[in-house]
Amino acid sequence: MTNEPLLRLEDVGRDFDVSRPWLNRVLEHAPRQLLQAVDSVSFDVRKGETLALVGESGCGKSTLARLIVGLYAPSRGRIEFDGVDISDPATGAQTTQIRRRMQMIFQDPYASLNPRWRVRDIVAEPILVLGLLKNKDQIDGRVAELLTQVGLTPDDGQKYPHEFSGGQRQRISIARALSGSPEFLVCDEPTSALDVSVQAQILNLMSDLQAQLGLTYLFISHNLAVVSHVADRIGVMYLGRLVELANAKDLFANPRHPYTRMLLDAVPDLEMSGRQRTPVAGEVPNPLSPPPGCTFHPRCPHANERCRAEKPPLVWRGETASACHAVEENRI
Ligand SMILES: Nc1ncnc2c1ncn2[C@@H]1O[C@H](COP(=O)(O)OP(=O)(O)O)[C@@H](O)[C@H]1O
Ligand code: SF4
Ligand SMILES: [Mg+2]
Repeated sequence: MTNEPLLRLEDVGRDFDVSRPWLNRVLEHAPRQLLQAVDSVSFDVRKGETLALVGESGCGKSTLARLIVGLYAPSRGRIEFDGVDISDPATGAQTTQIRRRMQMIFQDPYASLNPRWRVRDIVAEPILVLGLLKNKDQIDGRVAELLTQVGLTPDDGQKYPHEFSGGQRQRISIARALSGSPEFLVCDEPTSALDVSVQAQILNLMSDLQAQLGLTYLFISHNLAVVSHVADRIGVMYLGRLVELANAKDLFANPRHPYTRMLLDAVPDLEMSGRQRTPVAGEVPNPLSPPPGCTFHPRCPHANERCRAEKPPLVWRGETASACHAVEENRI
């Protein structure tokens, strides 16, 4: 791992227009409604590391993943990959080249695999689309190699996705993601649909592949316990914003942001210390009408007047960043 950023996000935001249809708006005087799914997010991912993003459902993790791989365009901000601004339409041709260097793995391996295609063709598709190999024997050889690399057999290429278990299907998704030889993988809840024992196997496979191939991962999960197994650094998101970012060890040993503390208190005892755990309290507010000031204030035991009025910016202290007035004021 180096300190060189492979991916850099600067004040990235994405809104969705969730207004009622035009006619209703006119007849009912309903205003246009924008939902801020991602709000001013800045971080970088260094070559060779695993940066994990965690947060409750609806906090903008998948939207962020889609912005990075180009499935959505950002409403604001800048996304750079290897020094090139890939959110700028002016760098179009270069962006196409760069997008080949990243791939995404989705939560549901069944929905993301074409059920009517044999596994061999599913895995070979990126090779054909990118024109990496043309000769059939070479492609077959490469597919066999990829299937072996993810713990399947070359013969599995002749089967269809439904003939495999959930964990095996995620192995197929990984083989397909790797077939274009990417450097960077965005993994959006890759194990959340799997049984706990299978989750561990897939996480181990991903770690092995990272070491063998020198991959960089952005690993997204709602589950801090899962993230603790894979992450070098962890970013915590709340209602579209990054509220804390730290080395994984520091975050577990010395969480700063009250929301991170709340998430950690809810994690099943990682060190088996027998410590009592409290569930995450309160509900995530409606993202269409987020609370003023710090959006976490209705759930925060440390909230005061300033928190209710003023949005806390993300402030760096060495390698750790947090967005909390109480942390800045040294009162927690
Ligand atoms: N295509 C979309 N149109 C409108 N709202 C969306 C769309 N995608 C996501 N959202 C909203 O944006 C917020 C963030 O969603 P998402 O990125 O899926 O969160 P997560 O992956 O953390 O669960 C949610 O409030 C969700 O309802
Ligand atoms: S800014 Fe205030 S309300 Fe927000 S997390 Fe910090 S202490 Fe809590
Ligand atoms: Mg999601």
